[in-house]
Amino acid sequence: MDRIKVMVVEDEVEDRSTIIDYLSNVEYINLVAEAESVEEAVDLIEEGETPDVMLISALIPGDGYKLAEKVVADYPWISMIMVERELKEETMRKAIFAGAKDVLIFPFTPAKLVDAIYRSHQLEKKKQTLAREKPSAVKTRKKSRQGQVITVFSTKGGVGKTFVSTNLAVSLAQNTEDKVVLIDLDLDFGNTALALNIMPRYTISDVINEIRNLDQDLIESYLIPHRSGIKLLAANAQPQMAEFINAEHIEIIIKVLQTAFDYVVVDMPARFYDPVDPAFHEADLLFMITTQDVATLRNLKASLAALNSLNFPKHKIKLLLNKAETRSEIKPKDVETTLNSEIYGVLPADYKLVSSSLNKGIPVVLLYPRAKVSRSFQELARRIIGDENVIPVKAQTAPEPSK
Ligand SMILES: Nc1ncnc2c1ncn2[C@@H]1O[C@H](COP(=O)(O)OP(=O)(O)OP(=O)(O)O)[C@@H](O)[C@H]1O
Ligand SMILES: [Mg+2]
Repeated sequence: MDRIKVMVVEDEVEDRSTIIDYLSNVEYINLVAEAESVEEAVDLIEEGETPDVMLISALIPGDGYKLAEKVVADYPWISMIMVERELKEETMRKAIFAGAKDVLIFPFTPAKLVDAIYRSHQLEKKKQTLAREKPSAVKTRKKSRQGQVITVFSTKGGVGKTFVSTNLAVSLAQNTEDKVVLIDLDLDFGNTALALNIMPRYTISDVINEIRNLDQDLIESYLIPHRSGIKLLAANAQPQMAEFINAEHIEIIIKVLQTAFDYVVVDMPARFYDPVDPAFHEADLLFMITTQDVATLRNLKASLAALNSLNFPKHKIKLLLNKAETRSEIKPKDVETTLNSEIYGVLPADYKLVSSSLNKGIPVVLLYPRAKVSRSFQELARRIIGDENVIPVKAQTAPEPSK
């Protein structure tokens, strides 16, 4: 493996020597230059000292963010990591918009530093490989139609948004040749990765670091493939990053994914809030999940009224009754009357199989394809796809044995 060439731009002498000390023990890192200011760093690069990765302290004379912007514009193949003294929204945004691949808060551990350098370098390499391999026909590749956005929502927690979005995404993939992506927009507590037994290497935060360069090939490199054929854009491993995600980011992400995928299924948090607004605006179908209990119905009624007051198109809203139980005192007809809306799909409750699927990290439609609840998902998926487009063979795919 080629050694990663690193330049350190830090004017605090002690901090710089700490960083250099950390790097000197790593075999695959080669410290090629040190600088104390923007001017000195630019001189070094112009003299031909081009590193693979630059570690830039935000507080250097001349302004670290300015240096970052210049490097991104003139030497886009250099990966930049900003070093901040504290975690603040304002500086984090500045770093992201300056084009930094990562942000480290000093003091950090040697492992954190080395991991940030390695990861940002790998990402850049991947980006370059993609750019090289991208034939011009692919560059302009456009699907004949934009992918459908299916947003799964409810302001009530625990009604099954994550359960429905994951199993629906997998069912769609099983019943078509179409490409399906699942986005976890439950930014604070997202657990679609858990439901799919995936340890995400990348999350939505990594995509946001690249938001200015985002295209369909780049975003694909951050998606995690699942054996069902779907891809996942996972929520953040570090919930504090959620603070830096805004509606503009989410809009860009959804639009780019729509160009590359036929179905974009979105798992939502249990509340309305600004950053996830685009998942409503861009939705072709908005699945509102309800259950047969008074508290949820009240909650749903209020949400539907809120959507109505926001002029959300009523025809896009589809009611899904989850955890349906025939024994319940509240019947599906009562749900429809209370919410003044027809039920589009019914997913029965099956606590034994659903909890076993969750524990194994295998969607119930894969683990127990013949169960009633799984067949309901197949029906729902086929209704969305349209009978003429269904490829029934894939629905029979046997699950791999669980690990
Ligand atoms: N049809 C079902 N039958 C049995 N259990 C179910 C069913 N649907 C969901 N559950 C269970 O209900 C619990 C909550 O589901 P889930 O996490 O999908 O809800 P959520 O709406 O995403 O919650 P949150 O608002 O916290 O994100 C989980 O333990 C899930 O396994
Ligand atoms: Mg959830």
